[in-house]
Amino acid sequence: MKVLVVGASGQLGHALQDALRHQDVIAWNFDTLDITQRIQTSRAISEVSPDVVINAAAFTNVDQAESDRASAYRVNAVGPQNLACATDALGIPLVHISTDYVFDGTKIEPYHEFDQPQPRSIYGKSKLAGEEAVRACTRQHFIVRTAWLYHTIGKNFPKMICQLAGKSEVRVVSDQRGSPTFAPHLAQAIAQLIMTHHYGTYHLAGTGGTSWFELTQALFAHLGITAQVVPVLTTDFPRPAPRPANSVLTSLQDPLVLLPPWENGVREFAEQYAQDLKVT
Ligand SMILES: NC(=O)c1ccc[n+]([C@@H]2O[C@H](COP(=O)([O-])OP(=O)(O)OC[C@H]3O[C@@H](n4cnc5c(N)ncnc54)[C@H](OP(=O)(O)O)[C@@H]3O)[C@@H](O)[C@H]2O)c1
Repeated sequence: MKVLVVGASGQLGHALQDALRHQDVIAWNFDTLDITQRIQTSRAISEVSPDVVINAAAFTNVDQAESDRASAYRVNAVGPQNLACATDALGIPLVHISTDYVFDGTKIEPYHEFDQPQPRSIYGKSKLAGEEAVRACTRQHFIVRTAWLYHTIGKNFPKMICQLAGKSEVRVVSDQRGSPTFAPHLAQAIAQLIMTHHYGTYHLAGTGGTSWFELTQALFAHLGITAQVVPVLTTDFPRPAPRPANSVLTSLQDPLVLLPPWENGVREFAEQYAQDLKVT
């Protein structure tokens, strides 16, 4: 199968290249293709003629999106629209990645695929606009909502918090809950999904829910980091973009593509991260 991955230099882009290594993968980064350019996008995709396109490209800086709305919408809404039009014209499926931040976080239970999105941030709004554009432009779509994504490659919360390991105390928000997702686990699930024709919207995130505080405790325990983890409230760390208090994801889809429990992802991340530190 010829798989085109766009946004290939991001966290998920890297994980996808690894998970799909037995396929014929074409990996394009921002320099190869800017998905906001409609004509360039349709021309480039039609030239390589893939069997499926996976969009791992996005404007992911949640706080910066509040002040750079146009860029967020261009990459997160216009880009997916361009990809959906291009794939639809070729009659091939598009996998588009979206986010738990399309929900407002007021639900007590985990969010499933058919809960009503109500994003609070510009990032969440632009990602929801991207989902809607994809649904409008092509029937052959997999919209995959994921959450709290991290990898040993790229910028993310677990790597940032590990850099504070030398401190005696680390303060971490305990009143936001989500589903931490190890990018290689998500990439494996997407690799399975593209072998099917069960188009639709999927929640694919680390199974179970936790807070940033508990995530940090689990991570530090695996890495033998002795800094004390102190729980604080979201209001103690004001940020430009509002975050949902609860964005734990669950799935009602059949067939169910389940990711491992979030704790497994943290363990695997810690093992790889410790290994990488030894090498460097
Ligand atoms: N990170 C999370 O916690 C999280 C949570 C939920 C959902 N998601 C979603 O998961 C997906 C993957 O996220 P990620 O964390 O892997 O993202 P990432 O590491 O930030 O990577 C995004 C990639 O998109 C590229 N890109 C940006 N604008 C582009 C454009 N106009 N054309 C082509 N490429 C462009 C970036 O290139 P440059 O690096 O060169 O700018 C980068 O390589 C995204 O859809 C994101 O919204 C992420």
